[in-house]
Amino acid sequence: MSSDGMLRVAAMGDLHVMEDHSASYRDLFGDISRQADVLVLTGDLTDLGKPREAELLAEDLRACAIPVVAVLGNHDYESGCVEQVSAIVRQAGVHLLDGSSVEIEGVGFVGVKGFAGGFGRRMLGAFGENAIKTFVAEATSEAMRLENAMRAVKSRRAVVVLHYAPIPETVEGEPLEIFPFLGSSRLAETIDRFQVSAVVHGHAHRGRYEGRTPGGAPVYNVAQHIEKPNGRPYALLEV
Ligand SMILES: [Fe+2]
Ligand SMILES: [Fe+2]
Repeated sequence: MSSDGMLRVAAMGDLHVMEDHSASYRDLFGDISRQADVLVLTGDLTDLGKPREAELLAEDLRACAIPVVAVLGNHDYESGCVEQVSAIVRQAGVHLLDGSSVEIEGVGFVGVKGFAGGFGRRMLGAFGENAIKTFVAEATSEAMRLENAMRAVKSRRAVVVLHYAPIPETVEGEPLEIFPFLGSSRLAETIDRFQVSAVVHGHAHRGRYEGRTPGGAPVYNVAQHIEKPNGRPYALLEV
C-alpha cells in the first residue's frame, strides 16, 4: 500500500496466452508484484479458451506475489471449455469474478465480463427477430448481474472490472463499424447508479486509455496493447 493509504492497482487486459507459450508473462508479473498491491486482469486471459492455455497462464502467475482479480473475456469462451478454464484460473489463486465481488484491503472489486450492443442512442434495442432479442437480453443480463454485485459491496471504494467497454470514448481508434461489438452503454448506466473509484476494461486492443462515464466515473482501457502513462503494458492506478 502507498504511504497515503491508497491501494496501488495494476490492471491489464488481453493477455491472449497461446499454447506455444510464445509470450511468457512471468517477468512482467514479477515486476508488477513490486509496483502494485493488487493485479487486475480484464479478460481474454487465453487466446482460444483452451485449458492448456489457462495452465500456462497459471504457471506464469506463480511469479505474481500479490492478490489477482480477473474476469473472463470473449476469447476465453471460444473453445467451449469455460468451466475448465475458470477452474484452472481459480486453482492458481485468482479471484475470478463473474457477477460477483471481492474486498481487498478495504477496496471492493466488482467484476462481470459484460457484452456488446453499442452505445448511447445508437444502442441495439430488443426489437424484431428473436435472435436480436436474445442478443440484447445478454447485454441487459450482464448489466443486471453487475448491478446485483455492486449492491453487495460494503466498501466505499469500488473498482469495476469488465472485459467489454462501458463507453465509446475508450474504444476510439478502432474502426467505427465495429464499435457496437466492443461494448455496451448498459454497463455505464449501471455504474452511474453507484459511487465508483475506477472502471477498467479491455477487449478494444486499438482503443484509447482514458474516458469517463456520463456520470463522471473514470474509465480505463487497459488492454496490454494500449499506450499507458507509465509506458508499461499495464496501468497503475491508485484507488
Ligand atoms: Fe482481446
Ligand atoms: Fe475480447
